[in-house]
Amino acid sequence: MTADIPVLTIDGPSGSGKGTVSALVARELGWHLLDSGALYRLVALGATRHAIDLANETALAEYAANLDVCFEIQSDGSPPGILLEDEVVGDAIRTEACGNGASKVAALGAVREALLQRQRDFLQKPGLVADGRDMGTVVFPQAGVKIFLTASVDERAQRRYKQLKDKGISANLPDLLTEIAERDARDAQRTVSPLKPAADAVVLDTTSSTIEEVCDRVMQLCRERFK
Ligand code: DC
Repeated sequence: MTADIPVLTIDGPSGSGKGTVSALVARELGWHLLDSGALYRLVALGATRHAIDLANETALAEYAANLDVCFEIQSDGSPPGILLEDEVVGDAIRTEACGNGASKVAALGAVREALLQRQRDFLQKPGLVADGRDMGTVVFPQAGVKIFLTASVDERAQRRYKQLKDKGISANLPDLLTEIAERDARDAQRTVSPLKPAADAVVLDTTSSTIEEVCDRVMQLCRERFK
């Protein structure tokens, strides 16, 4: 019986700020958080480790359906620790290579189907903030508030560059720009669950906004609609 549990979906392209905004808003609301991109990244990482070809839809879907992952919720609200097959994943899923692998496996319908119920299982009381590409269109079409975050490609590449540098992961800005543009095109042009705003989503361009401004706007929408 999950129909009455409130859901806020935050979709958008890579670097639009949705990960940061989703985590901050989930903490403020005291709700659960689904980072759906992490699931696709974990499938790409695990498949690579098991030498499964990232174009082998059947093998990938089977791997995704049986994905042995554990999200360890932190009591201080920091991001969950992730265990893949009992091993700590850390930043291994945050590299650009893993993001590109995720974008490739995410274009396969059978992989998306295999992860669908696992994503819906995150819907628990008191509410859920779901971050991804198709949260408002496919996974939680019933969500009470749907946000679609965008920002210019240049701005998103700059943010990604800073994020990677801060984590001590080496990065090159021109390469990032090309990779982000390629990933956007793949995510938006795929036939299954393409990246696009839901018809009833509020579209927010964050190119010249601070994280605080975006969070305030999202919280305002939540207060108006989740009474
Ligand atoms: O949000 P992210 O960068 O961690 O996502 C990595 C890739 O996973 C992204 O390029 C597309 C895919 N993805 C998806 O297709 N659907 C989602 N709901 C989340 C991510």
